Amino acid sequence: MSTSPVALITGASQRLGAATAKQLHHQGYNIVIHYRHSSNEAQALADKLNQIRESSCTCLQADLNKPSDIQQLCQQSVQHWQRLDLLINNASSFFPTSIGETTTEHWNDLFASNCKAPFFLSQELAPTLAKHQGNIVNMIDIHASAPLKNHTVYCMAKSALQMMTLSLAKELAPNIRVNGVAPGAILWPKPETEMTPGEKNKILSGIPLERLGTLEDIAKTIVFLATSPYITGQIIAVDGGRSI
Ligand SMILES: NC(=O)c1ccc[n+]([C@@H]2O[C@H](COP(=O)([O-])OP(=O)(O)OC[C@H]3O[C@@H](n4cnc5c(N)ncnc54)[C@H](OP(=O)(O)O)[C@@H]3O)[C@@H](O)[C@H]2O)c1
Repeated sequence: MSTSPVALITGASQRLGAATAKQLHHQGYNIVIHYRHSSNEAQALADKLNQIRESSCTCLQADLNKPSDIQQLCQQSVQHWQRLDLLINNASSFFPTSIGETTTEHWNDLFASNCKAPFFLSQELAPTLAKHQGNIVNMIDIHASAPLKNHTVYCMAKSALQMMTLSLAKELAPNIRVNGVAPGAILWPKPETEMTPGEKNKILSGIPLERLGTLEDIAKTIVFLATSPYITGQIIAVDGGRSI
């Protein structure tokens, strides 16, 4: 069994998930990087972390739209180090669903990664997390509370994840804490080279701190929640004041 705490981060091959993996690794966690399609990015990150500390990171593939994959991911995650202290529900699909153009496939896809998988991962991993007073951090979105135009289904799924955070904090206490992080604008919604100055200004003008957040702003908040033993059922907006 690992003597270090172990974290499973879903969708961790790149962007916010990868930044969180690096930050937790720096704090001494062993890391399970989950990915779906980005195997090269996941492996490159694992290689980098294993160079820093030998045998401290592993990668597991799973499509979170498939219940059998979720179960297998849980089993393999626990098997690897015989313990799990932290689950970060980070994987997410994100696309518009305008009225008149939305299909049940869109609905299922958005709810699977943003809401259903986080619930079943939490349920499956709860007995293991409880053994070491573990915790869960859910990646929500400020748009769980304030809708993003043309993204109704995504916002609904994140809103359900927000309620799940509060509800499971009650149900899984006292042995497991459950918290959330609600990022504001952290990465541009499309590659920066494709953003016009007008599009950028429109986003920045709604942020009191007048800048996008950084990956580290989010990762540090996750580490704070993961290591704060008297905080549960809280969702911290990391958004430069956008939701005020
Ligand atoms: N970026 C922001 O500014 C922002 C703002 C608000 C909230 N958030 C939230 O913060 C979290 C991280 O954001 P992000 O922008 O870094 O995420 P992202 O890059 O859009 O997605 C993270 C990963 O999720 C995985 N994924 C998506 N659907 C999946 C599925 N059905 N099964 C398995 N894996 C799946 C993908 O893995 P593969 O690449 O391996 O396929 C993807 O790389 C998300 O929950 C997001 O909603 C982000």
